[in-house]
This record gives sequence, C-alpha cells and structure tokens, in this order.
Amino acid sequence: MNKIPVLDLKKQIGPIRGEIDAAIAKVIDNTNFILGQEVRDFESDVQKYCGVKYAVGVSNGTDAIKLALAACGIKPGDKVLCPAFTYYATAGAIAATGADPVFVDIDPETYNISAEGITTALKNDEGKKIKAVIPVHLYGQCSDMDVIMKIAVKHDLKVVEDTAQAFGAEYKGKKAGTAGDFGSVSFFPGKNLGAFGDAGMVMTNSESAADKLRILRNQGNKDKYYHLVLGFNNRMDTIQAAVLRVKLKYLDSWNKKRQQNAEYFNRQLSGLDIKTPFVPSYTTHIYHQYILRLNSSSKGLIGHLQGKGIDTRVYYPLPLHMQDCFKYLGYKEGDFPVSEKASTTTLAIPVYPDLAQEELDYIVNSIKEFLR
Ligand SMILES: Cc1ncc(COP(=O)(O)O)c(C=O)c1O
Repeated sequence: MNKIPVLDLKKQIGPIRGEIDAAIAKVIDNTNFILGQEVRDFESDVQKYCGVKYAVGVSNGTDAIKLALAACGIKPGDKVLCPAFTYYATAGAIAATGADPVFVDIDPETYNISAEGITTALKNDEGKKIKAVIPVHLYGQCSDMDVIMKIAVKHDLKVVEDTAQAFGAEYKGKKAGTAGDFGSVSFFPGKNLGAFGDAGMVMTNSESAADKLRILRNQGNKDKYYHLVLGFNNRMDTIQAAVLRVKLKYLDSWNKKRQQNAEYFNRQLSGLDIKTPFVPSYTTHIYHQYILRLNSSSKGLIGHLQGKGIDTRVYYPLPLHMQDCFKYLGYKEGDFPVSEKASTTTLAIPVYPDLAQEELDYIVNSIKEFLR
C-alpha cells in the first residue's frame, strides 16, 4: 500500500484541470487581476449557494474575520469571545483589531464553543467590554446557532461565524455562516473548497454591513484615491475567484463523498474502544476533518498509523490559552480542561473524497490492529 497523506489535492484537481486551466487563461487574457469580473461572479455564486444576500470576496479567512469585526466597530479595549480550541487565526484576527480575545471552553462531544461557557464569560465581564462572539464551526459541523443567537441578542453581542472549516454544511437546513451578523469563510487550498493560494469571503444579510466590508477590504476607499476610513489591502485575486468558481460546482459531490467515507469509518469502528464523531441533529457535517478520540493520549495510535504509512494530524496540539503569543491575556493551564483534554486525545485521519475503498479498508484495519 502506498503512503496515504491527510489530503491529496493532485487527485482532486486532475479530473477538472482542463476546466481550471481555461478559467485561469481567461483571467490572464483580461489582465484584471484584482477584484475583476470573476470575483463579482464568484460573490454572486456564493450568495446563491448559501442563500445569503451579500458575499464579499477577500484575501483570506483570517482577514475575513478581522474585516467582519472591524465592520461591527470592534476596537482596542473591546473584548471578543471565541473558543480556546480552534485554529490560531480566530483569535489572531480579534487581536488584529486591537481587541482582546476572551477564551471559552468547548463542548466535549462536538468540540464547538460551549454555550454555558459563553454565559459564564459574560457573567464575569464586569466592565461589559465583551462586544462580540465568534462561534467556530470546527471540523465541518455547525455550532448550535439558535442558542448562541439567543444569548447574543440578550447581551447585545455581534456574532461572526467562523465558517472556515464548514463552508457548505447546514444548520437546521440553512447554510453555515448565514445565521449570525457575519459568516467568514476561508478558501485556503486545503479547505473543502480550496483556492490555488489564499482567498476568503465574508457573508452578511445586511446591505450597510456589506458596503462597509467592500470599503474596508479596499484601502478604505469607495471612489479611487478618496479614503473614507482606515481600511486594509484585503482584496480577492481574480485568478483565485476563477478557480473557485470552477470548483464550487463540485463541492457538494466532494462533501457527499467525505460523508460517505466518514459513515464507513463510523460503521467499521463502532463498538471499539475509540470515539467517532458525534453529529447533533441540528447540523450536517462536511468532514473537513474526521476526528477520532481515545480514552488516553492519541500519541500511540498516531505513531502506529505513521508506521503503516498513514498520515494523521492533531488539530490542535496546544489550545490557544496556552500559546506563548497569548500569554499577555493571563490564562493558565487548567483554565479550559475540555480543550486541553481534546488537544492530547484526538487525531484527524484522512477522509478526503478521493480515497479508494482499499485505502479506507487499510486505514480501518490499521486502527483495529492498534486497538487489539
Ligand atoms: C477555524 C479557522 N479559522 C480561520 C482560518 C483562517 O483562514 P486562512 O488560512 O484562509 O486565513 C482557518 C484556516 O486556515 C481556520 O481553520
């Protein structure tokens, strides 16, 4: 058996290479390389796909969060809630606005932000500085948005859904990232819908917010060389939009294949001493990552699979409250036990759409061999 990587983009791109080459060639012919026609077309594709009024193409998923927060008016001195267990960018984007992240522990079953944790953080917020919350739809399934929106309305919080890993998933029949004030998306190449470089999107149903986003992403100008506000260079490249337009057509079928692979793993590993993903009835899961959980450290299984040529990853080995870069916030080990435990007992195995049946079987058998 050949080595099995966590993701093999060559297999994904191969069959649609001709279509993508033609789309890129068209951009080269037109030479409108930044915010060109394909960006506007891709924005309207995303609006239709997600059933959202406005979609604003930006430079990447991190900037998408930062721009959404900036459009909410988040500023230095404010605080923003986010899970302690997510990719750095969620909290990095908060810090980029000058605000402080306030970490919240996760739910042990879904790995998404804990609603009780949000309520506790708000109770402890004596100066009433918390102005927004960022639920992250980690691994590809949605946080419980109804519960989060209820808390947000009560406490007058803005909600930015970090949909970097869940583009195409659905919460109660509606696309991820469309329930809050904003949904931020990443099209990092390894995402289920990935560009050929960095790209991102902010979604919103508010016309005035969409206007602000378009101004903020483009150096704060509405008319060229007249700058209304202090903005950023966070525009989307036309070539990325052209690639993404082609790939969007295939996203649902790729996600379906990931779901079939995940269901296969679930069936094959059921009844064994290992925990497969829990998917609540309010959300679908698009399995950006398929996460397994052990009763103790995941290191043994990771080493065993590595020996078998199966690549795995830990998302994420160190929760954010324990990262050096966030020391200034004053957290310590033990503050978020559920996040800390998840960081040492979980692992992601390959689940990408192009895995062959024999590769799926090989992965399952290698895990079973370890558990025996
Ligand atoms: C949860 C989460 N938030 C934000 C980001 C940032 O996206 P990008 O890499 O496009 O800046 C990522 C992915 O990289 C992510 O996984």
